[in-house]
Amino acid sequence: MALYSETVMDHFRNPRNVGVIENADGVGEVGNAVCGDIMKIYLKIDGGVISDVKFETFGCGSAIASSSMATEMIKGKPVEEAMALTNRAVAEALEGLPPHKLHCSVLAEEAIKKALEDYYQRRGQS
Ligand code: FES
Repeated sequence: MALYSETVMDHFRNPRNVGVIENADGVGEVGNAVCGDIMKIYLKIDGGVISDVKFETFGCGSAIASSSMATEMIKGKPVEEAMALTNRAVAEALEGLPPHKLHCSVLAEEAIKKALEDYYQRRGQS
């Protein structure tokens, strides 16, 4: 059995939403101290809806695939919905990750939450 699903390989080879948003409304950066991977998420939010999202991930293939999938899942969604995104949902959308790679999807959940917290903080709503 292949270790990684076709969906993981697709998002790893052709990651969606890679890049930076200048003047983003929220930015979140997280890292995993054990593997040393770093993920940064940029959000553009208009009227409570995520109108654009980009990521920069310095990390493993699963972290890149998780960032790509997670950004696709929150694009065009209300901030409340993005806040509720779990790593489990990201891993499921990727058709699974090997157990020792599940923490890569946790990084995506955490980076999005941190970017949203930054957004709320800037608006004085934290
Ligand atoms: Fe740490 Fe993938 S090995 S994020």
